[in-house]
Amino acid sequence: MKLFIDSANPEEVKKMAELGIIDGVTTNPSLATKAGIDYRKAVDQILATVDGNVSLEVLSTDAQGMMGEARNLSKLHNNVVVKLPTTPEGLKALKILKAEKIRVNMTLVFSANQALLVAKLGAYIVSPFAGRLDDIGASAIDVISEIRQIYDNFAFETQILFASVRSPLHVKQAALAGCDIATCPYEVLEKLVHHPLTDVGLKKFLSDFKESGQKPLV
Ligand code: E4P
Repeated sequence: MKLFIDSANPEEVKKMAELGIIDGVTTNPSLATKAGIDYRKAVDQILATVDGNVSLEVLSTDAQGMMGEARNLSKLHNNVVVKLPTTPEGLKALKILKAEKIRVNMTLVFSANQALLVAKLGAYIVSPFAGRLDDIGASAIDVISEIRQIYDNFAFETQILFASVRSPLHVKQAALAGCDIATCPYEVLEKLVHHPLTDVGLKKFLSDFKESGQKPLV
């Protein structure tokens, strides 16, 4: 399973890229606002830092506007994947952009049927928003497992991206359900990397060896 960072903050992207654990990036208009820096500059830096897919979202709500933005976004870099909302206008735009060979990530997906539609229309990625489903008491993992089964039943090639990750548990659920990608906030990636018992264990290895008075092997 690929791991993406869900961020529009180039510093966060750089730190995780240096650790070598991320395969791509997702952003959205809320993350761009949260980053609090010039969005265009941030995107340029992110595209220069990561050698993997970077999903950038359109701001139009009509199909014509979405297609115009998508064509321009896709020219920024070969790694750009355009995010469209899963609305009737988004579906119209997806069909045309697919024919133009522009890779599209259909976002704000909350049901297996929405995922079925976007796969039929040739989406490159589908983004079910797990956290937002769990937040309202629905079972995100049930929806995502249904999507996996439907895609396998019909050999759809659309990649399933587990989005709106809230915790390391979500990452494990994504992997167990056979998702292709999970996109995680910086804080969740940090939690995947660190474990308190690893730190305690390492400290003890080193102090035990020091106490023994032995010389290191090399
Ligand atoms: C990713 O593509 C989504 O935009 C993101 O994961 C949404 O996460 P949120 O529900 O935490 O805003």
